[in-house]
Amino acid sequence: MTTPPLPPPYHGADFNGPLSDAHAARLIRDLGPLDGSRIVDIGCGWAELLLRALAGEPTATGFGIDLDEGAVAHGRANARARGLADRVELAVGDAGAWSGTHADVVVNNGSSHVWGGDPVTHTANALEAVAGLLGPGGRFLFGECFWLREPTRRELEAMADIPRAQYRSLPDLVDLALSRGFRLRALSQATLEEWDRFESRYARNWEDWLERNPDSPDADGVRARADRHRDFWLRGTRETLGFAYLSLIRV
Ligand SMILES: C[S@@+](CC[C@H](N)C(=O)[O-])C[C@H]1O[C@@H](n2cnc3c(N)ncnc32)[C@H](O)[C@@H]1O
Repeated sequence: MTTPPLPPPYHGADFNGPLSDAHAARLIRDLGPLDGSRIVDIGCGWAELLLRALAGEPTATGFGIDLDEGAVAHGRANARARGLADRVELAVGDAGAWSGTHADVVVNNGSSHVWGGDPVTHTANALEAVAGLLGPGGRFLFGECFWLREPTRRELEAMADIPRAQYRSLPDLVDLALSRGFRLRALSQATLEEWDRFESRYARNWEDWLERNPDSPDADGVRARADRHRDFWLRGTRETLGFAYLSLIRV
């Protein structure tokens, strides 16, 4: 724990990923029609996408699950403030140990890791788990990384936490989804501007904290963390890692 604490991940953020308001609205439209639907968001964080989908369709209901108590509490407060609390349940829990619930629509956005297992199997695990939650015609918004191009050895070194085999090209990502019982309804990807906005949020939170707390015993640690993140981003992911939004239908 840093003293004083760093801001929570939802500080100054709409989504916990590279996603603009306009793009989110398009993704929700692509998932539709949502009338009467039960929408389940797994690894929902503070469930901003789920809450926006529910706000746009008064007959839909929602369920979200995430391990992070603070994020879930923030999502619940947003649901209350927007008059959505009677149509959405947000639970704190481990998706890997969760027994599932009826779903017409599933969202798994930036959260393929919630099912556990080796990172190189996360994408396939997520597709298989969600295929098991949906009946024929069920819809799935899957937000997942892919390689924009083959990363160099130096770029892979800069993003040491990401094994090359964890992700694949965009066509191969779509093929993997098709091989697990889905068809593709729509596709888009995060723009560089959306990525930069997302990654800059971390940089800004750390730099603002350092400016406010120059004498904290944790200042060197926070500065080192900010420096590591900048290398990960600018020398690693920025030109190599894409983020796809696959709108899928269960066959
Ligand atoms: C990159 S965030 C994406 C959050 C959200 N889907 C969004 O788009 O804003 C990944 C989320 O997965 C959650 N998570 C990680 N492991 C989990 C698990 N085993 N069960 C449930 N949630 C988990 C984290 O707490 C985090 O909120």
